[in-house]
Amino acid sequence: MAYKFLTRPLTVRNTTFPNRVVFPPVQTNYASETGEATDRLIRFHETIARNNVGLSIVGATGISPHSRLGPQSLCLYDDRHIAPARRLFDAIRKAGSVPAVQLNHGGRVMSPELAGGTVVGPSALASPAAGIVPHALSLEEVEQIIGQFVHAAEAAKTAGAAMVEFHGAHSFLLNQFMSPASNTRNDKYGGSTENRARIVREILERTRPRVGNDFVLGLRMSVDEYVDGGLTVEESRKMVNLFIESGLDIIHVSGGGIDTGPRMIQEAAEGNIVKLAGEIKKFVNIPVIAVGGILRLEQAESALKDGLADMVALARALIADPKLVTKSLDGKPETVLECTGCLQCFMEGERPGMTCSVNENL
Ligand SMILES: Cc1cc2nc3c(=O)[nH]c(=O)nc-3n(C[C@H](O)[C@H](O)[C@H](O)COP(=O)(O)O)c2cc1C
Ligand code: SF4
Repeated sequence: MAYKFLTRPLTVRNTTFPNRVVFPPVQTNYASETGEATDRLIRFHETIARNNVGLSIVGATGISPHSRLGPQSLCLYDDRHIAPARRLFDAIRKAGSVPAVQLNHGGRVMSPELAGGTVVGPSALASPAAGIVPHALSLEEVEQIIGQFVHAAEAAKTAGAAMVEFHGAHSFLLNQFMSPASNTRNDKYGGSTENRARIVREILERTRPRVGNDFVLGLRMSVDEYVDGGLTVEESRKMVNLFIESGLDIIHVSGGGIDTGPRMIQEAAEGNIVKLAGEIKKFVNIPVIAVGGILRLEQAESALKDGLADMVALARALIADPKLVTKSLDGKPETVLECTGCLQCFMEGERPGMTCSVNENL
């Protein structure tokens, strides 16, 4: 099969993605306990990057000491994180992919240990999944978190990334602010669509002058949260257009999150999250990344051909077989080691860090 759509380069600002395949953010817990990139994390990304993946987005990375999701998540809040991150981004670039990193604060779904004792959120409303009533952030604290996102983006650029993706999906803090189900504030960060979008707009607007005009600013967003009273595609379209006004360059469409439970995986498996990307693409004029349940390269090609997205991300398929794209482009798709959907990669194993039942080399 000829992958005419997938193999076309795409240029955003001054960055050219050599093709349309994305390795999306995956929390590996391969960093050190203090948040530095390790040889294991570098080897993992390098192997994927070397195999014809145009954009590699490193998984949810902490922006402050109490924002990270796992005990060995990558962090970018201290000067000591920059040199190891530079080794990571350099390795991805030398392997032929564009290096990017996702920046995140977990907010109300975090464990109290990782949150430093106080779990925070936009409002004092417990997440259905985590069940802890968070401390509702004061205006000063919101301001501080905006500054931490901007600082981490600047650190990513200093370390050699070409792009950051702010994590506004999967029930984490920025998603919590955007969502009417978790944000009942009555100040400028709550209420109307414009107010719930404000924190992300301020992060985008304050980041741009710190990173220059060539740097790519992305956002991942759960455009349908699949929860009662949560974000719908209709409201998300309006929000994405507000983000574009504030300088957003690329939107990575996801759906659901921690609060959705197993339904998120089910929706991905049924291809419904890829369809959500198409629903956003019709209404925006920036590149759209689609993701969810894609196991074979021909499915990714079809999503582009059908006009659902501009780039396509494969997470579990590339964890299971990092050479999937190379093998498919070489006309040997039958040699791909296919992800079985067992979800072992989501579980904590005996050894710290992500493992896969198909890929023995992790
Ligand atoms: C082990 C694991 C860790 C993940 N970590 C993140 C993350 O850090 N940030 C994020 O936005 N999504 C994360 N995801 C979600 C993936 O990026 C992707 O959206 C999801 O797995 C659906 O795509 P797939 O069907 O191709 O796997 C993770 C997924 C897996 C399997
Ligand atoms: S652990 Fe299972 S679900 Fe995860 S990538 Fe490997 S085969 Fe797929």
